[in-house]
Amino acid sequence: MDFRFDIILDYGPLLLQGTLLTIGISILAILIGSILGLAVGFGKMSSKWFLNLPMNGYIHFFRGTPLYVQILIVHFGLVPLFIGQTNPIVAAVTALALNSAAYTAEIYRAGIQSIDNGQNEAAYSLGMTRGQTMRFVILPQAIKRTIPAFGNEFIVLIKDSSLVALIAAPELMYWSNAMRGQYIRVWEPYLAAAAIYLILTFSLSKLLAYIEKKL
Ligand code: ARG
Repeated sequence: MDFRFDIILDYGPLLLQGTLLTIGISILAILIGSILGLAVGFGKMSSKWFLNLPMNGYIHFFRGTPLYVQILIVHFGLVPLFIGQTNPIVAAVTALALNSAAYTAEIYRAGIQSIDNGQNEAAYSLGMTRGQTMRFVILPQAIKRTIPAFGNEFIVLIKDSSLVALIAAPELMYWSNAMRGQYIRVWEPYLAAAAIYLILTFSLSKLLAYIEKKL
């Protein structure tokens, strides 16, 4: 088997462009997903049925159906419904963010519930309200504990963003597929893509380990 590095170099600019979009889509999705996840998580923890019931349903739906299917529903259904036309990049970010929100909601919940109840009681006995206790006592500690889980979620998103090649969002996997089509070669496009994903996830996990140690 010959391995043609020259065609990887030929495709370099497009692979680089794809990699940048992969990073962009993943960053936007984790940002939007974790803000949305905060709302979903608090909704689920609420004692009011009209909040916890729909949010529970949301989490079940997005964790219980394939991301592949969710991407298609968002791309061909939701996005045209809201903006009147399809747009693969908007659909990619939306689908990944909606999916990630279901997972981050559970990260927030686990973080908050991991704080000992004695802290609530101590804050109440100092005369703090429920809202103040959450904001000033529970959340600052909970958020620190959830940082590793968020890092993990970001790594998952980078890898899962490859699924949006399905709707022709021109990220890394899209260009690898295009490369296979143009050269009718298999090893170069897919090993190049794998290597690039590995560089992204590996450096991110090193960065996260460093941040964790600092904290
Ligand atoms: N691979 C899963 C699927 O196809 C999606 C997992 C998403 N996980 C996450 N932590 N965001 O459904």
